[in-house]
Amino acid sequence: MDPLTIALAKGRTADSTIDLLHKTGIHFPDFTKDSRKLVFFSSDQSIKLIFVKAVDVCTYVDKGAADIGVVGKDNILESGADIYELLDLEIGKCKFSVAGPIDHPPLDEVSQLTVASKYPGVAEKFFKEKGIEVDLIKLNGSVELAPLIGMSDVIVDIVETGNTIRENGLKVMDDIEDISTRLIVNKSSFATKTKSIQYIIDQFRAGLE
Ligand code: PRP
Repeated sequence: MDPLTIALAKGRTADSTIDLLHKTGIHFPDFTKDSRKLVFFSSDQSIKLIFVKAVDVCTYVDKGAADIGVVGKDNILESGADIYELLDLEIGKCKFSVAGPIDHPPLDEVSQLTVASKYPGVAEKFFKEKGIEVDLIKLNGSVELAPLIGMSDVIVDIVETGNTIRENGLKVMDDIEDISTRLIVNKSSFATKTKSIQYIIDQFRAGLE
């Protein structure tokens, strides 16, 4: 039987996911945290892990290159991928928030904003629902810099400890959504490999308990 393919992002998510599976007796003997390898098999060869960029996990699952993905809700929302989201792994907890300079007027007092974000899709949807017209600037990191140097009025970004916005003199102006790591599944894989996918989901659940 073909192994089930699970797409993961290297780093904390992968380490926590592998720890979770390890607790339930699924081991990846070749895996080490500092390995540069991108593919690992479980001891019984029933699971194949592939390491991809976090922003690409949804694409691999949507296209069927992976049956299952473990990825942040932030990337799921931004990708718009047509996948099933079946389990909250309750790791990597943070929030999508709007942040801006301390003296910025509240959002309900503005009708137009320039917004910098790594997540322009999420930002556009949020402000559209609020009836605020936005000019979006897509950045790939260090987003907190944009309002500091006058490139944008506000940002939409992930806030975890709040240290980055505080240390850069910004404040949270609104919370958009709670984020955490989720288990996602390709729709046709779920139809054709229901039993083995359900087994993996049960193992993740057991590991969480
Ligand atoms: C993320 C995010 C914030 C920061 C939030 O950035 O985009 O900048 O972490 O965490 P905090 O609330 O605990 O400070 P990341 O570390 O991924 O770096 P980046 O700026 O390169 O995206």
